[in-house]
Amino acid sequence: MLDVEKIREDFPILKRKINGKRLIYLDNAATTQKPRQVVAAIVKFYFNYNANVHRGFHTLSQEASQAYEEAHEVLAKFINAYSWEEIIDVSNTTDGLNLIAWGWGLNNLQPNDEIVVTVMDHHSNMLPWRAVAEKTNAKVKYVDITEEGTLNYDELERIISEKTKVIAFPMASNVVGTINDVRRIARLAHSVGAIAVGDGAQYVPHVPTNVRELELDFIAFSGHKMLGPTGIGVLWGRKDILESMKPFRVGGDTIKEVTLDSVVWHDLPWRFVAGTPNIAGMIGLAEAAKYLMRLGMENVREHDVILVNETLKRFKELGDEVVVLGPKDPRMRTGLVAFNVKDLHHHTVGKALDLLGIAVRTGGHCAHPLHYRLGFNGSIRASYYIYNTLEEVETFVETLKLIISLKERLAKEPVEEVCPGT
Ligand SMILES: Cc1ncc(COP(=O)(O)O)c(C=O)c1O
Repeated sequence: MLDVEKIREDFPILKRKINGKRLIYLDNAATTQKPRQVVAAIVKFYFNYNANVHRGFHTLSQEASQAYEEAHEVLAKFINAYSWEEIIDVSNTTDGLNLIAWGWGLNNLQPNDEIVVTVMDHHSNMLPWRAVAEKTNAKVKYVDITEEGTLNYDELERIISEKTKVIAFPMASNVVGTINDVRRIARLAHSVGAIAVGDGAQYVPHVPTNVRELELDFIAFSGHKMLGPTGIGVLWGRKDILESMKPFRVGGDTIKEVTLDSVVWHDLPWRFVAGTPNIAGMIGLAEAAKYLMRLGMENVREHDVILVNETLKRFKELGDEVVVLGPKDPRMRTGLVAFNVKDLHHHTVGKALDLLGIAVRTGGHCAHPLHYRLGFNGSIRASYYIYNTLEEVETFVETLKLIISLKERLAKEPVEEVCPGT
């Protein structure tokens, strides 16, 4: 169990008031808040040993290089990678997924090869593969979801064949919350000789991740969704595949030697890190991973289940005023619940919640095809993390009741489209 009151002391932002109310931050699937320890590690780097890495013999550069390299080791430990060399720093999940699509896909896909993605995918996994398919004349196939909100594994088994070269999928969904059967999908991919790519954006921050057990070939995840800073993420990949790949972006640090007519690419992971990396970001992310390891990822997972269980239980009091997207069983979900309120636009509900101090995400959550498949053009999403409490769930549900009681009046309000396309 997490000591949530103690954890909350590490997050000064949670003391903020919004519209006179104590902030209840339920937008963690978009980005989490940052603890003092992470901010302090970044400040310490900038104030004490800021220098570029791998470029100098002076003391500051040596210290910065050491901290930067150690950060790779911490992150390798966090996901039980075989080696720190499998940890490639990228800007975020989207960047990591693009690196695989363009770095591996463009060089390995032939016309009429097939790429399997899912209806459940975030645009960040779906669109890079569609773009690479356009360039290579490969075909994209989609796995549907079941009524329960899980992936349709029967369909997946039916549509894969020796033509399938990639199965890329969300390890956990950012809308229906479903935690997918990662190892089953990895094994299916390997049974037809395809690579298995996991979008770990909503999984790695919430579920204990052991890459050795999951049997995937690649996983991408974002630092900012697991207490780390923005602008940094990780692409983990199987060493033999990474070693077979040419760098996707080239330039400084990707090479061992260059002449006017030859280039020898660097060892892993540097061959994929072009130009000055996000040194402060890696140091901050490693501190975030240490923080989560101290709490224990099993406890982080259990905390999500407790809060989601309470939310789904309390939502029953709202009857058919609320439609929840995704599985009914909290154990099948990560720490989020997306829903719609009958006869109210999702943005109207989001705005009303904000007026009362509660931050949720509203819109298509970068998963438009999934929303359309479910018969909606958006939803409201409450997403939890280690500092959220049962009392916050209680306030959230009571506030929703209030909003529903004011429905007729609120439905007349003009709908504000804050960020179109999201
Ligand atoms: C499932 C999933 N994949 C990918 C992403 C993209 O993450 P980022 O914006 O950090 O690249 C997100 C972000 O919400 C996500 O939820």
